[in-house]
Amino acid sequence: MTTSDYNDAAVRDICYNCGSSVAKQSYNYFRRLDYITGSKVWSKVWSKGDTPVAFYYANRCRYHVRLIEIAVRKEYQGTGMGRKVLFDLLARMKQNGLYKLTFRTPMNEDAHNFWLHLGAKIVDVKGNDYEMEITIK
Ligand SMILES: CC(C)(COP(=O)(O)OP(=O)(O)OC[C@H]1O[C@@H](n2cnc3c(N)ncnc32)[C@H](O)[C@@H]1OP(=O)(O)O)[C@@H](O)C(=O)NCCC(=O)NCCS
Repeated sequence: MTTSDYNDAAVRDICYNCGSSVAKQSYNYFRRLDYITGSKVWSKVWSKGDTPVAFYYANRCRYHVRLIEIAVRKEYQGTGMGRKVLFDLLARMKQNGLYKLTFRTPMNEDAHNFWLHLGAKIVDVKGNDYEMEITIK
């Protein structure tokens, strides 16, 4: 498995092949934000050969990190990839002295169980989404 920084084509490919309709909708937002901020977002992509497999995409804020998306290509789900990607992001946060990761996840998709399993807490309900966070130390 190789890793790289944000890559438009790879992220698009994963968004369309991870089984989440929300990821598909988010994709154009990633592209725009990457452009507007001059590639200042935190993002990393994992690939196997020519196949993009997983990525995270997050905004570094002053006291926390706002996760926009973590996604794993369908064929690779359930193989520990999601955990690996999340832990990589948490390690990067720690290196930067940031200990809180916040994000939203749709109530009608199964991913919130992944988050609860990995220690995230539901802190609010916003429309059809859970507002969640993970605190590390
Ligand atoms: C959610 C997602 C990132 C999980 O990635 P994954 O590679 O399948 O997860 P992993 O294989 O690393 O699983 C890690 C652990 O979480 C558990 N887990 C994974 N998905 C789960 C789910 N939907 N419900 C409950 N537990 C889950 C696994 O059993 C595993 O537990 P273990 O390590 O104790 O054995 C992936 O399913 C995905 O990309 N979904 C579509 C996009 C999405 O919804 N992203 C999140 C929106 S914020």
